[in-house]
Amino acid sequence: MDRLRKVPRLGRLAVGLLLAAGQLTTAYNLNPDSADSVKSISKQMAEDLVSFYNGNQPGNTPGLLPDPYYWWEAGAMMGTLIDYWYYTGDDTYNDITSQALLFQVGETNDYMPRNQTRTEGNDDQGFWGLSVMSAAEYNFPNPPADKPQWLALAQAVFNTQAARWDTEHCGGGLRWQIFTWNNGYDYKNSISQACFFALGARLALYTGNQSYADWAEKTWDWMINTKLINTTNWYVYDGAGIETNCTVLTPYQFSYNAGGMILGAAAMYNYTESQTWKNRLDNLLQGSKVFFTGPNNNIMSEVACESVNTCNVDEHSFKAYLTRWLTMMIKWAPHTYKVIMPYLRASSVAAAKQCQGGDNKRMCGLIWYDGKYDNTTGVGQQMAALEITMSNLIANSSAPVTADSGGTSVGDPGGGGDDIGRNQPKGPDYKPITAADKFGAAILTVIVVASVVGAMGFIFLDETSTKGPVAQLKGCCRRSKEERQGKGSPYQ
Ligand SMILES: *[C@@H]1O[C@H](CO)[C@@H](O)[C@H](O)[C@H]1NC(C)=O
Ligand SMILES: *[C@@H]1O[C@H](CO)[C@@H](O)[C@H](O)[C@H]1NC(C)=O
Ligand SMILES: *[C@@H]1O[C@H](CO)[C@@H](O)[C@H](O)[C@H]1NC(C)=O
Ligand SMILES: *[C@@H]1O[C@H](CO)[C@@H](O)[C@H](O)[C@H]1NC(C)=O
Ligand SMILES: *[C@@H]1O[C@H](CO)[C@@H](O)[C@H](O)[C@H]1NC(C)=O
Ligand SMILES: *[C@@H]1O[C@H](CO)[C@@H](O)[C@H](O)[C@H]1NC(C)=O
Ligand SMILES: *[C@@H]1O[C@H](CO)[C@@H](O)[C@H](O)[C@H]1NC(C)=O
Repeated sequence: MDRLRKVPRLGRLAVGLLLAAGQLTTAYNLNPDSADSVKSISKQMAEDLVSFYNGNQPGNTPGLLPDPYYWWEAGAMMGTLIDYWYYTGDDTYNDITSQALLFQVGETNDYMPRNQTRTEGNDDQGFWGLSVMSAAEYNFPNPPADKPQWLALAQAVFNTQAARWDTEHCGGGLRWQIFTWNNGYDYKNSISQACFFALGARLALYTGNQSYADWAEKTWDWMINTKLINTTNWYVYDGAGIETNCTVLTPYQFSYNAGGMILGAAAMYNYTESQTWKNRLDNLLQGSKVFFTGPNNNIMSEVACESVNTCNVDEHSFKAYLTRWLTMMIKWAPHTYKVIMPYLRASSVAAAKQCQGGDNKRMCGLIWYDGKYDNTTGVGQQMAALEITMSNLIANSSAPVTADSGGTSVGDPGGGGDDIGRNQPKGPDYKPITAADKFGAAILTVIVVASVVGAMGFIFLDETSTKGPVAQLKGCCRRSKEERQGKGSPYQ
């Protein structure tokens, strides 16, 4: 894509002038204490994020990002645009956000549009569900009355997922994929559980309906029983296959898995006000420190892949969700503010500083702890940098609402229609899937990553070690060829 073509005419002129003046380095110098600094940098980052999206343009499909971004990431990006409006009050992108969120709802208003069902995973659907849940909690402008409403959409996602709870294998849990023949149907991954868990907890909080909390409890218990959450170090592992009855765990740690569990635990703590949930949340929060590196161990990093340079398109965006969810946690569990805020602040300054890429010299890269641009650009990088920048506004932002405290979104507890219980796509018009589809649209977690297993650095971390994760990584067992040769990691 020719990025310059997308810059509006005035912007192009400005870029031209900058080029003429030879001022090529315009790194953001973020002052996390100044709302003006945070908002003006957020505005530019948001503009650059939206420059990747063309779904609102004639001839394109609202709610889809161009290749190589999968459907779910557009849903995640709409969540970032909702956050942008919530933190800054700037409604510039509200219309394209609503348009996308409403275009992709599918026939039964549950984020199972026909174009996606052939490759859709529970996590993919979950990300759209969590975005509309945020819309309800922040009182994002409601859709016209004849359109589906934010809360009702979130409930429909929840209902379709609860019906897929699979007690036949592993004593419960959601499978990764929704439909039987998809790669990954045999895998129960943490992010699918985390999305369902967090959605249930937030629905309980918003509606006051205990049924949602019961499901959240059930999901939590399952994560503990399978040991996907390790209650010694509170790490959250990626998932497990049903062929071993979930006894063999895939031990990679990705930031969004921990983030999703933290988000749900925070909402459950707020809902129950119990010491049990407070302890669970505080423990997970300690465990999530594994995602902070750099000389002071306070800069967020996708440790499984950044230092070995193997992050895929999906993984470029994961820090956006850990950030978003740690920040939301603060509202539901205010005692965590002093624990996490120093990490978010330090990460935000580092993230903003490395945004020096692209024709406009301010596109953000992936790696934050290095102090310099890493030459990568993308939706994920841009979303993550924007989310961490905006997190500085949390203390001054309003609390999420509930139905009892100003929430205006209209619900539908029975939403989901005939998608409830379905594990084959409906309709005569679905085409047989191709091999490319199989590897395609779902979130690429470890099933696909397994083929490049040798390239993964972050395998078994031992929290009893006095070494930090990166030092342990260096001594670890299965490193990439490049890393063994001293090329892959900036820490060599
Ligand atoms: C938060 O609000 C206070 C009081 O209005 C203001 O002084 C401060 O600059 C704000 N900080 C941020 C980061 O928004
Ligand atoms: C599904 O794909 C068709 C053909 O590309 C397109 O016209 C339609 O708008 C898409 N619908 C959704 C919900 O993406
Ligand atoms: C599979 O695991 C579940 C939960 O731990 C257990 O209840 C069940 O008996 C196991 N099934 C088999 C066949 O081992
Ligand atoms: C509470 O939620 C459950 C689960 O979705 C639903 O079946 C039930 O109708 C809801 N109850 C009310 C009063 O909305
Ligand atoms: C629950 O969340 C509300 C809204 O953010 C907050 O005011 C309240 O203190 C929280 N409750 C607890 C127990 O932390
Ligand atoms: C980025 O690209 C520039 C120019 O090609 C190169 O000098 C620099 O080393 C690269 N930086 C990284 C982190 O790869
Ligand atoms: C949980 O963490 C402890 C402490 O690091 C470790 O000894 C144990 O093997 C871990 N359990 C699993 C299932 O990974």
